[in-house]
Amino acid sequence: MTQVRNSTSAVEQYANLIPMSEIASNADQLFPFPIFNSLRQKTPVRYDEARSCWDVFRYEDVHYILKNPKLFSSERGSGTLQGSILTMDPPRHTKMRNLVNKAFTPKAVKDLKNKIEEVTLYLLDQVNEKGTMDLVHNLAGPLPVIIIAELLGVPAKDRDLFKTYSDVLVAGAKDNSNEAFQRMAQKRKEGSEFIKEYFKKIILERKVNPEEDLISLLLAAKIDGEKLTEEEVLSFCVLLLVAGNETTTNLITNAVRYMTEDKNIQEQARTNLPLIPKLVEETLRFYPPIQAIGRVTKEQVKVGGKTIQKGEQVICWVASANRDEQKFAEPDRFTLERKLNPHLSFGFGIHFCLGAPLARLEAEVALVTLLSTFAKLEGVKGTELEAIPSPFVFGVKRLPLKFTRQ
Ligand code: HEM
Repeated sequence: MTQVRNSTSAVEQYANLIPMSEIASNADQLFPFPIFNSLRQKTPVRYDEARSCWDVFRYEDVHYILKNPKLFSSERGSGTLQGSILTMDPPRHTKMRNLVNKAFTPKAVKDLKNKIEEVTLYLLDQVNEKGTMDLVHNLAGPLPVIIIAELLGVPAKDRDLFKTYSDVLVAGAKDNSNEAFQRMAQKRKEGSEFIKEYFKKIILERKVNPEEDLISLLLAAKIDGEKLTEEEVLSFCVLLLVAGNETTTNLITNAVRYMTEDKNIQEQARTNLPLIPKLVEETLRFYPPIQAIGRVTKEQVKVGGKTIQKGEQVICWVASANRDEQKFAEPDRFTLERKLNPHLSFGFGIHFCLGAPLARLEAEVALVTLLSTFAKLEGVKGTELEAIPSPFVFGVKRLPLKFTRQ
């Protein structure tokens, strides 16, 4: 695979999406943590020839990289997200982030609480009598899409279409072959073109007739007299869709997955619902929806004693950093008793997740509602979970559940 490094093919663009050879099987993707623990001990910072990138496993080193945008750039070749704040460096990033912060306020998020409750209850109502569901299909998948659509001002009738295309934008390759990567790149291109065309139409409509939604606010927001261009509003909409949907789906799913694996935690949470925010934070640390964050070196740097040349890709393994024994006591234990939980699952520093308050709120509401509606949540015996085949995303494709009503 080393030849990939100097090519300009679609494969190169997604070169670091190739899984590590150490974490290739479904079983390992479902539970990669012992492998991360061993890599962190043996090779805390290493170059992987097969994937043409550096891997960083320790908390201290990951934190250092995310904290230093002067040395580690976010401007990386990710087609769909090019031109969005996620792949921008200062000073442009600072200006854009201040602008979008004006529209994406804590109040705008808090105002969504009732809507989140209403949508969760509606979705659970559809499965209530059956006694079984697929959590991903029935709740964790649709909820974030509906909420983002609401926030952006997307008409309700288009939501299914939305889910389909936003899933395509974040989907990984089916296997490790070149063909699978080419196919994935092609599907992503089509998905991204569709979504862009769709948003263009809404942006033009809101320019003429502003409403109370985020798109209208973004079109109106100004910093130093400067407004976002239509192109910038467009890439922000696409970013919200890509960054906010599957991640939140996986947070909710990973929390419920954990509760089916650990009946004590499920019982603790059920009998003490104010503990749910802690359950959400511990899920973020223990089963992080985004397990890795990429950067590119802007100059020659030293990380964990290793010299990395300018222009190299660096993958920060959040899933490993979150279980670093130098930072967390009993890191492999899931507990609701942590006083501090400085996990890196929403990133750190200037790119810290803009949607973190929304993701936390959605997860909290979904979990409280689930636990107060159903007396017992159990996995379905005999069904093997299937990991999402992307080294960046940590989650399962489906989570079949059995439940009894309260
Ligand atoms: C950035 C994770 C939900 C919008 C990030 C980053 C991470 C992350 C790790 C930093 C990436 C980097 O440093 O390169 C997550 C997780 C989520 C979640 C785990 C759910 C559990 C959301 C939601 C939204 C959102 C719901 C919006 C609706 C964004 C945006 C950025 C971002 C706009 C870019 C911020 C910037 O570059 O300044 N997210 N995210 N995220 N996230 Fe999230």
